Amino acid sequence: MSYKPNNRIYLCLAHMSEAGLEQQYVNEAFTTHWVAPLGPNVAGFEQDLEEFVGCRKHIAVLSSCTAALHLALRMLGVGNGDEVLCQSFSFCASTHPITYCGACPVFIDSEPDTWNIDPMLLETAINDRIRITGKKPKAIIVVDLYGMPAKWDELKAISEKYGIPIIEDAANAMGSCYGGKPCGSFGQLATFSFNGNKIITTSGGGALVCHDEATKQRAIFMATQARENAPYYQHETIGFNYRLSNVCAGIGRGQMTVLGEHVNHHKHVHELYKKLLGEVEGILVKDNPSDRYDSNFWLTTVTIAPSIQVKGQEGPFKTYSDCEPNGNVEALRVFLDKAGVEARPLWKPMHKQPVYKDAPAYVNGVSESLFKVGMCLPSGPYVSDEDVYYIVDCIKEAIA
Ligand SMILES: Cc1ncc(COP(=O)(O)O)c(C=O)c1O
Repeated sequence: MSYKPNNRIYLCLAHMSEAGLEQQYVNEAFTTHWVAPLGPNVAGFEQDLEEFVGCRKHIAVLSSCTAALHLALRMLGVGNGDEVLCQSFSFCASTHPITYCGACPVFIDSEPDTWNIDPMLLETAINDRIRITGKKPKAIIVVDLYGMPAKWDELKAISEKYGIPIIEDAANAMGSCYGGKPCGSFGQLATFSFNGNKIITTSGGGALVCHDEATKQRAIFMATQARENAPYYQHETIGFNYRLSNVCAGIGRGQMTVLGEHVNHHKHVHELYKKLLGEVEGILVKDNPSDRYDSNFWLTTVTIAPSIQVKGQEGPFKTYSDCEPNGNVEALRVFLDKAGVEARPLWKPMHKQPVYKDAPAYVNGVSESLFKVGMCLPSGPYVSDEDVYYIVDCIKEAIA
């Protein structure tokens, strides 16, 4: 192995435009005294996002995607005692906001093509919940996980058939498309994340995608403490302090100029992993299931066959529960870590999290088995071709 990177290789490091536009917009916020959760950068960033997503969408920028998901649930009237159907295979932020509303998550497992919510299981769960509770679940949260679009045709048909709205968690999927349409345009409401490790960043931030201007204005009202239009502070509804700062929105405006470049880079890195790992038996790079899917490959993910022998896989490893990644996966993660490469297991399904042990779950085993064999590899704008060659060489070396 001749090439050795100078720095640790991270999954997805924030990367600013070479023109330094982020800094310029931030400076402008300072010099014009718009250091507040409103101002020209907020409006400008929303306009850029609306142009990017198209499909006549109206977008409110917020302090995080978690906040956007919470707001989306509140906007759909989710409250105490309601049930919300939610993709189990995801980051906790897809789920926790349900509990902020006093509602109960009902977890749905994934299907193997996209790793996202299984439409068949979803329909079974809807009928079962109606039978058990006597009422319809209030909403469905679908995730485009790791940038991979969900099975939108089937999911939208189910949503329409039962009259249950979908919130699309497109935190990972900015720039991904399904059937030629952008992720973030499928749910009745949708969300993006601009956290530091996403396709673009505002350091921390998120957005709520709405179908019409009235819904966007309602979201902004709810995100600014639901302050009524009076000269003094008049409140008739409980709101939140969820608006994005004009300083952070300045970073977002600059990032919009490199969004296309970032998406192309993630896809390029994924292609290179596919080519290089294609020669390694037992390691499979997750790919688009058909040409209807066009993932941004926010993170390239792989699955590692249980038969693959990795140095040190006997452990001992510290265990935290009875649901852990396989020994060869953990050994590979540790090997890469020592070689200066950040790798991460796939999300642990929410129905296997102790905090949700009492929540109903409709399970087919797909997400749990993926969690045991899966891993995320560095994919961000700073990951060079040399880095990918180095990472693949490390993987080959780790395999005994
Ligand atoms: C699928 C998913 N949903 C939601 C979030 C939350 O985003 P934020 O950190 O902007 O709140 C994340 C963050 O990684 C995510 O991966």
